[in-house]
Formats: sequence, C-alpha cells, structure tokens
Amino acid sequence: MIPVNEPLLDGNERKYLMECLDTGWISSEGPFIRQFEERFAARVGRRHGVAVSNGSVALDAAVVALGLGAGDEVILPTFTIISCAAAIVRAGAVPVVVDADPLTFNMDVAAVERRITPRTKAIMVVHIYGLPVEMEPLLALARRHGLKVIEDAAEMHGQTHHGRPCGSFGDISTFSFYPNKHVTTGEGGMIVTDDPALAARCQSLRNLCFKPEQRFVHDELGWNLRMTNLQAALGLAQLERLDEFVARKRRMGALYTELLQGTPGVQLPQPKAPGADNIYWVFPLVLDDTVGTDAKGMMKRLAERGVGTRPFFWPMHEQPVLRRMGLFEGESHPVAERIARRGFYVPSGMALSEAQIRQAAQTVREVLREFTL
Ligand SMILES: Cc1ncc(COP(=O)(O)O)c(C=O)c1O
Repeated sequence: MIPVNEPLLDGNERKYLMECLDTGWISSEGPFIRQFEERFAARVGRRHGVAVSNGSVALDAAVVALGLGAGDEVILPTFTIISCAAAIVRAGAVPVVVDADPLTFNMDVAAVERRITPRTKAIMVVHIYGLPVEMEPLLALARRHGLKVIEDAAEMHGQTHHGRPCGSFGDISTFSFYPNKHVTTGEGGMIVTDDPALAARCQSLRNLCFKPEQRFVHDELGWNLRMTNLQAALGLAQLERLDEFVARKRRMGALYTELLQGTPGVQLPQPKAPGADNIYWVFPLVLDDTVGTDAKGMMKRLAERGVGTRPFFWPMHEQPVLRRMGLFEGESHPVAERIARRGFYVPSGMALSEAQIRQAAQTVREVLREFTL
C-alpha cells in the first residue's frame, strides 16, 4: 500500500531528541520550547510564538484570547476542518459560513461581505490544501468593518502570499504540526502574533491560567495545552529543513500534474493562485460528472489497488453535531457540497518516492477509466 502520508525524520530529529533524554528535559519546561517558538515565529515574520499541543487547540485559545464569546458572529469557510467551527462554538460565539471557490477550495472572499451583520466580530480565514486565500480584499474588509482576523495557517508552513509568509496576516494566526504537515512534531501546534498582550493571554490559557503572583489560584479557566520539549526538539529539526521540504512538495505536485494532466474526468489542483505558487500540502483531485462514482467509490477502488487516499473535508453546514445545535438551518453551499462528495487526495507525504508517485498516478488513471461513463 502506498501510504497517504509518511513524514521524513532523517535530519537532526534523533540528535535533538537524544539531547532531551540525556538532559532529562522531557516536559514543557525544556529549552527547545523557547527556541522552537522563537525560530518558528521569526520564520513567519511574527514577534511572538506560543507552542501548544495541536492545531485544534491553537484555534480554541486564539478565539478566547481575542475575547470572542456569547452572541459574537465569526465568519469562516464551510469547507474546512471541524476544529475551526468547534473553537467558535466552544467559546459561545456563532459560526457563520461561506462557500468555497471551486478551483482553489478556499473561502469565497466576495461572499464574506454579504454575511457581515452588526454582530460580526471576526473572520476566521483558513488556507486550504496549499494555496493561500486572497488576503488583500479580506483584510480591507476586516479593517472597514472593525473585525478581528484569525488566520488558520495549519497547512501553510513555508507558503507566502505576494511575498509575505502565511501566518503573518492575522491578528492572531495558528499552525498545526500533525505528521502530514510540512513541519511535524508528531502532535503539536503554534499560535503566532505581533501583539504582546495576545501572546501573554495565550501563554496563560495554555497553562491553566495560573495567577503569576500566586500559583494554584485562578481568576479564569484555562487548559493544559502545553507542548513538550520532545515535540519541540522534533519541530526544530524539521524547521531547519522547511525550504527543502517545500521544494520537495512542489516537485511532487509538478510530477503528479505532469502525469495526470489531460486525464478525462478529474480536476487537478491549481499550480498557482494570485501571489502564490502551490505548496501542495496535499494533492487533491475532484471527479467531474463524467465519472460514474463519487469520492467514496473511487477511494475504495484505489485502496483495493494499493493506493492510500483521504476524503476532502465535509462542510460545516452539513455537520450533524452543528445542525443539532440549530446552526445553518436551510443553508446550502453548493461548491463545498460538491467537492466534499467528489474530492479526495492521493498519497502526498514528505517521504513519498518518485516511483510511488508514478505508481499512484498510473493507478488513478486506470481506475478512472473503469468508472468513466
Ligand atoms: C486547516 C486546519 N486547521 C486545523 C487543523 C487541526 O490541527 P491538529 O490536527 O493539529 O489539531 C488542521 C489539521 O489538519 C487543518 O488542516
């Protein structure tokens, strides 16, 4: 089976991990944490980095740190991971969704303005699958309406938009370091910001909101979202290779594109969007209507033929848990609904070899032929 994802861990990972074991620093108090935070923040052009235990809780802390709560509306893409909507709902705020662009899969920026109401307090921007959201109109809109911007750059390590790093656009921005990301710590996340007060608030939320002047006394409820020194050791070693990893993924994307270009029945990812070349976090495919099955049928057949895949995100407005809360009643977002049903991604991990890409692409072509009407 060609795995859908496999990380590359053959740089300084072992050396830094051994340093943790040799020095006994395995908790969140170890020295790699500060180093990782500082270097990661510097890499994305931010003043502060706050390392946390994953990209989902990074969003939880970001929403609470911005003071969003009961009655506040936050606009986000419907085509994203549940972590985005969950962070908003858990804070007591209201998620308001917009549809996706059919080619980049990013949020429809023009639709954002139509959903602004007097209760709107923030926009949660999510860069999807390797191409950044067009930030200029979105930031202008946010400025005009006095809205905060949370930027979920979970999938965007090393990506830039008009030369500016993704992760540098939000009042507060977040990353994930799950093993399918360009930089992994196993599990892990990072909050970045230029605002020292927001950074301090995230540090406090990350560590149970202990009162600095009297430990074990709390004015507020936080969480334990701490990253360990072991994870930061991995992260540092990975970060050292980020440029190499981005180049590697771009080569993979170019090879898949070359091999699959012109194949009937399937939409390939866009190599570019305004101000950015794709970093191919994953290599997503969308089946068109000439293919007589959906993503599920295609993925099942590919698995039988030894090719690992993953489905696309499922839209937030179609999530049973959110619908039961009375959210998104009567809403339809046709692009997200279609790509969720007809989209999936093929093996895209950092360790993927050229031979595996050729094999995966060949299998996709053959299976598509089987299903073509
Ligand atoms: C856009 C986006 N946001 C948030 C997350 C959540 O990150 P984590 O898996 O580290 O909790 C992911 C995870 O893949 C993601 O793709």
